[in-house]
Amino acid sequence: MADPLLQVTDLRVTFETNDGPVQAVNGLSMSLEAGGTLAVVGESGSGKSQMAFAIMGLLARNGRAEGSVRLEGREVLNLPSAELNRIRAQSIAMVFQDPMTSLNPYMRVGTQMAEVLELHKGLSRRDALAESARMLDAVRIPDARGRLSQYPHEFSGGMRQRVMIAMALLCRPKLLIADEPTTALDVTVQAQIMDLLEDVRTEFGTALLLITHDMALVAESCDRTVVMYGGRVMEQGPTRALFEAPSHPYTAGLLSAVPRLDGDDSELAVIPGDPPDMSRLPPGCPFAPRCPLVMETCREVRPVLEELGDVRRACHAEPRAVA
Ligand SMILES: Nc1ncnc2c1ncn2[C@@H]1O[C@H](COP(=O)(O)OP(=O)(O)OP(=O)(O)O)[C@@H](O)[C@H]1O
Ligand SMILES: [Mg+2]
Repeated sequence: MADPLLQVTDLRVTFETNDGPVQAVNGLSMSLEAGGTLAVVGESGSGKSQMAFAIMGLLARNGRAEGSVRLEGREVLNLPSAELNRIRAQSIAMVFQDPMTSLNPYMRVGTQMAEVLELHKGLSRRDALAESARMLDAVRIPDARGRLSQYPHEFSGGMRQRVMIAMALLCRPKLLIADEPTTALDVTVQAQIMDLLEDVRTEFGTALLLITHDMALVAESCDRTVVMYGGRVMEQGPTRALFEAPSHPYTAGLLSAVPRLDGDDSELAVIPGDPPDMSRLPPGCPFAPRCPLVMETCREVRPVLEELGDVRRACHAEPRAVA
């Protein structure tokens, strides 16, 4: 069988701090096929962004990554930065929550985009600008040519996020990692951006790794889902299977916290308790202190991922007890 586009195996991310080590990602494995869609969900602090930064080679200085990240069969974890730069430009791109963290406020949008193509594709400035205009057009920015000479602050928030997506797609990456790409936007613009992502993804055959805590977004946009908690995978499998019959109490909790479409927010549940302190993870299941089905073993023995029908889950509870 051909290698998957992305294969992450036993990824661990550790930060050294004055309070001792923080284990942000703790043995995560997942894979994504070429052109596929995969969501990574979990509450704030579960390690989603650090997982992505480790894949991209963008961890903070006090962080280190171990395990394996293979891109089309090739190990890319902890490569020297020159090689990583090349891979980042040509194979993986990332869109962040806040576009202003990645757009230079003092440079015209066209110049920023053109420089990417000059550097990585060797295009002339003229060709690079033409291609940049084409890409802005693809993300539905009206008057794309005219917009090239404007500065980021002349765009609305939603448009800036489109510009980021256009920039990320300039070199036609095989994998787009989108970390909370719509959280800063209002609901209507959110929906537009997600539609747009889906369109360009189909057009360019880009695989999508979507990081979010919005379960409704996941249901609409991703075929497969990884549920993370405390830096670990709690459950993973086809999105539909997880939504129809979650087999992990944490997934069930996340789902019951999704606002109902009929607008009755009075039934909105939140999972009681707080996410774990990543510098003091309990020996057993990280979710045990908050789990409605907790048993004695859960506090002592860390559950490993096991196949259960279409999904894999790490839980000691009877699957029937969860649903
Ligand atoms: N440079 C750092 N030094 C120490 N700890 C860090 C550092 N960067 C991140 N962490 C810790 O790593 C853990 C995982 O963080 P991460 O950013 O991956 O969370 P997340 O799942 O993306 O959350 P959110 O939904 O809020 O974006 C957190 O406990 C965070 O405090
Ligand atoms: Mg994050």
